[in-house]
Amino acid sequence: MQPRPFSQELIDRLAQAQSVAVLTGAGISAESGIATFRDPGGLWQQFKPEELANVRAFLGNPHLVQSWYTYRRNVAMEKAPNPGHEALAQLENLVPDFLLITQNVDNLHQRAGSTKITELHGNITHSYCIDCGKTATEQEMEPIASGTAAQCTACNGYIRPDVVWFGEMLPEGAMAQASHAAQRAEVFLSIGTSAVVYPAAGIPLVARDYGAYVAEINIEASAIAGSVDEVVLGKAGEVLPALVAAVEEKRS
Ligand code: OAD
Repeated sequence: MQPRPFSQELIDRLAQAQSVAVLTGAGISAESGIATFRDPGGLWQQFKPEELANVRAFLGNPHLVQSWYTYRRNVAMEKAPNPGHEALAQLENLVPDFLLITQNVDNLHQRAGSTKITELHGNITHSYCIDCGKTATEQEMEPIASGTAAQCTACNGYIRPDVVWFGEMLPEGAMAQASHAAQRAEVFLSIGTSAVVYPAAGIPLVARDYGAYVAEINIEASAIAGSVDEVVLGKAGEVLPALVAAVEEKRS
């Protein structure tokens, strides 16, 4: 049997904890076939965030930005949750006070069955009108192939994805919920994130400052690896099922 990449201490602490919080990033969806942002071949190596992921870019060329999000939405919808997402959905059922904080917009945690989620950067499956705020229907969300931007059928405003762009505030309440969960947590897991985008990257450090045992799960050390209690090197889709199975066994 292969040695476990995580410590017995992590299993024991997760098995005893009343309160656990988790932060996920693009790495947890990598094994589902969704590109991350900063790894080799990642989205920000192929596309420029300043041309696609801010409100000025959107107002300058709504059709281009809408098309990019339609492409990403279609990719996410074609892919399926992987064993890492599924293990986190299972962990939610083992711990009395649990919160999954995600930076991902791909909706895969929900599709895996997670229900206690705070989305920091929005969700790509939802779009709305920038003028009247109406939620867009499926048809309204699609930019017209001929190069015409998708517009609201009620007021003609442009339709935008419900995601956080550079320079924008996080959804109201999301950061407060995440910070409170980090403050309460006895164990905090930071999974598949490079931990360079703030304020999300600061959440594991809040947990640590409030006394949580913080473990990172990543294929390589992230920007905050030096500040956590344990770095588990490995793929989320392999590490998490083994970790959650060990915790479940110990809890039963
Ligand atoms: P990044 O692309 O910055 O980082 C992905 C992380 O996942 C890296 O640290 C990889 O080492 C790790 N990784 C890759 N495959 C993995 C696997 N199979 N198992 C575990 N880890 C793996 O993505 P994020 O940290 O999510 O924001 O990026 C944060 C934010 O930057 C995103 O939410 C997005 C982006 O700009 C907005 O769009 C607002």
